[in-house]
Amino acid sequence: MIHQILDGVSLSESSLVLDVGCGTGNNTILLASTEQARVIGLDISHGMLQKAYEKQSQIPFVQAPADCIPFATESVDFVFMTEVLHHLPDIPATFHEICRILKSSESFCIVTQSHKQIDQRMTSRFFPASAEIDKERYPDIDVIDELLFKAGFSVVNPKEYTYNPVQLGVEYLETVTKRGFSMLHKISKEDYEKGLEDLRKAFQQSEVLMYSADYSFV
Ligand SMILES: C[S@@+](CC[C@H](N)C(=O)[O-])C[C@H]1O[C@@H](n2cnc3c(N)ncnc32)[C@H](O)[C@@H]1O
Repeated sequence: MIHQILDGVSLSESSLVLDVGCGTGNNTILLASTEQARVIGLDISHGMLQKAYEKQSQIPFVQAPADCIPFATESVDFVFMTEVLHHLPDIPATFHEICRILKSSESFCIVTQSHKQIDQRMTSRFFPASAEIDKERYPDIDVIDELLFKAGFSVVNPKEYTYNPVQLGVEYLETVTKRGFSMLHKISKEDYEKGLEDLRKAFQQSEVLMYSADYSFV
């Protein structure tokens, strides 16, 4: 994913990169290890940042909301945001804020899923109600494009990428059992239990569950 995020972006030792909604820092740490640039992670959650810091204490991690970033105007060279958009309370304000902190002509990459990609998820097969809920939480790509233009971005270039198919193993079942995907907290108890039962049956019957993760890079 880091390669797709950096597609068309050129960074140098003096570049400043910000990972907005960095979570436990997986992408922040990977990017810092592959690029010479200075990389900072930002997240609203202290708990997430604590875990990120435990993994890599050399990277600065900042606690702040994405729509009020404690950085100077035109101070950042590249901003990226993976799987965060659907959590934001105010997407237009966040896009304005990111436009403000970016140096002019520098870039921003959002990693998200289109409505078509949400329909293709394995969780949408077993928990169809989760797809409907997520299509309300995730703005579709044309809406993101429009909001970016309104925030002041001048060129918007959405791309899709499909990763190699993988066979989902028991770790997928374990994640679902712990409701480790945020949309599983938003469906009814009945829909969750029905989907979990069907998923368990699929594993018991040794069904091969192949899945190709599909993402949009805007
Ligand atoms: C699904 S996680 C993605 C984490 C990371 N980007 C990744 O791809 O592994 C979403 C993250 O967004 C953060 N988040 C949610 N709302 C936020 C906000 N308003 N401002 C900044 N971060 C936020 C959450 O705390 C969480 O760490």
